[in-house]
Amino acid sequence: MPDGLPLYTEGASTFAGQVDALFWTWVAISAFFSLLIAGAIFVFFIRYQRRKRGEIGSTDEPSMVLEIAWSVIPLVIVLAMFGWGTRVFFTQSRPPADAVEYFATGKQWMWKIQHPSGRREINELHVPVGRPIKLTMISEDVIHSFFVPAFRTKADVLPGRYTTVWFEATKPGEYHLFCAEYCGTEHSLMGGTVYVMEPDAYEAWLAQEAVPGGGAAASGEALFAALACDTCHREGSRARGPSLAGVYGSRVELADGSTAVADETYLRESILNPQAKVVRGFQPLMPTFQGQLSEDQLLQLIQHIKSLGAEGVLAGGEAGGPATGGGAP
Ligand code: CUA
Repeated sequence: MPDGLPLYTEGASTFAGQVDALFWTWVAISAFFSLLIAGAIFVFFIRYQRRKRGEIGSTDEPSMVLEIAWSVIPLVIVLAMFGWGTRVFFTQSRPPADAVEYFATGKQWMWKIQHPSGRREINELHVPVGRPIKLTMISEDVIHSFFVPAFRTKADVLPGRYTTVWFEATKPGEYHLFCAEYCGTEHSLMGGTVYVMEPDAYEAWLAQEAVPGGGAAASGEALFAALACDTCHREGSRARGPSLAGVYGSRVELADGSTAVADETYLRESILNPQAKVVRGFQPLMPTFQGQLSEDQLLQLIQHIKSLGAEGVLAGGEAGGPATGGGAP
């Protein structure tokens, strides 16, 4: 495809080639059958038109071979394309385990980004080339959609639920970033630029702005102490809330006998609506933090909780032996 064609952006991520191959194959198949059918309509229209008054069509038996052929061939083609499309979809939707996690918050009408180092930016995203980047995203208001055409990836950004998008940029440069879900008056202005930089240049860029307190997990740790979460969530028999060490990603037993996986969305709900899923063995004592925390702060708290590995000891909690997991096995 020529670079000059404004409808087409050159791919700049590891899976852009896969997406393009799939897309252009679909275009070719669609064009082939569209032309075949339109051509057949035209030829038959000439060839089989009625020439005499009262003329009727063929009375031959319909061709079984033809019927089977035009059912089975398209079936095989669409199933093959489905399989191929599914593979590309899985590649796009599953970030590699070594992806570096960034955070994005959408709001009317801007993108707020936080780097792992803690540096923040608005409507801009600086990333190093050749490194898988995973964005954990949430909206402060309505549904938005994070879209970078050059990376061939897009994901909805929802209020109340975390979603992710990932990419590994292959070429340094500047790429458009869009909101791809109509979200109000200034939807069309809700965009920006992704700057893909050489790793050295990226490190230099990060160093330009010292971030007091470090990254999201460190901010979350400070917030955890400031909100006095650690008065209840700690080790020991007097703890009124479950220990949070190692809780992230584990299966939690709930008071009603069911279980839940402690992912980001579960942790967020437990902070904003603690009565929704009370851990077995604990009283529903925790107050809600609804309206007291911004989405940024919620993300920081969750990052702090994620950083408390199974071996971790809670900030501000009593120093002690290995975490037992408390009420959260
Ligand atoms: Cu945000 Cu459209």
